[in-house]
Amino acid sequence: MTQQLRADGGLRHLITLDGLPRPLIERLLDHAQRYVRPLGEKPPASQALAGRTVANLFTEPSTRTRVSFELAAKRLGADVVNLEVQLSSRVKGESMLDTVYTLQSVHVDVMVIRDAETGVHGTVAAHVAPHVSILSAGESHVAHPTQGLLDALTVRQHKGRFDNLAIAIVGDIRHSRVARSAYHVFSALGVPDLRIVAPRALMPEPEEFGGCTRHTTLDGGLKDADVVMMLRIQKERMAQADLPDADGYFANYGLTAQRLAAARPDAIVMHPQPMNRGIEIASDVADGPRSAIRDQVRNGVAVRMAVLAEVIASRGAS
Ligand code: CP
Repeated sequence: MTQQLRADGGLRHLITLDGLPRPLIERLLDHAQRYVRPLGEKPPASQALAGRTVANLFTEPSTRTRVSFELAAKRLGADVVNLEVQLSSRVKGESMLDTVYTLQSVHVDVMVIRDAETGVHGTVAAHVAPHVSILSAGESHVAHPTQGLLDALTVRQHKGRFDNLAIAIVGDIRHSRVARSAYHVFSALGVPDLRIVAPRALMPEPEEFGGCTRHTTLDGGLKDADVVMMLRIQKERMAQADLPDADGYFANYGLTAQRLAAARPDAIVMHPQPMNRGIEIASDVADGPRSAIRDQVRNGVAVRMAVLAEVIASRGAS
């Protein structure tokens, strides 16, 4: 696995939350919380990244992650480059590494990468100069670390602590990088009751998600849960023949107000978005009083500010 930490324990790259020390996770959450403002107030601004350059390289679509990384970098005073990959020399056959070397040569300090191929982030991180940081904005079905951090921040804001919680992660676990990063962060933070809930076809391999209980019915998986985290069906990672029938899926695994009654009365509902309304979640639940979905989006900017500030600060004076 790529070395994410510097010799002094500072964060250099963020590619996975698997194995990240709990104190570092907590420091990032504390730092992010300081950047959260009520909507309508001016967003926070600092010059922590003044003179630094952040490049976004997304080879898969994104709304939230890309926008929030860009806003986060700008609110910290950085210059931002958004590489339009489909208009770049990648389409002429240039390799990812040559693209990265090019950005490095024009003084890019942080590269934010989303890619559908497993291992790209680690390969790039192993080849960049020591002052360059690689941040994952999503790696295949494997990891989405800043999503995991913003999910943890959202749970902490609503529940205050982790050591007494039951969290149910529901849906297409097999293909979900969000589920894997949630599993890593909530395990690190000591959540005692972690559950994955999915039809058999969408369950991960048995060797994954150790310590979670597995449920194939929604009612069983949601019973007395404090947090219900719904996931999108990842159509882009499935063969056509494997796609579940939308109506049948909603009937068995779609979160409705009636189904949510199995969870605790103060349970919150989360979803990383984009949502398939009417397939994995009913609109009145997604937009209802127990939904924390818009808090997740707001927290995404704060978390990405904290991560950007952390990797730049860990460089020292260089
Ligand atoms: N949650 C998330 O990663 O959303 P985007 O795909 O829009 O970035």
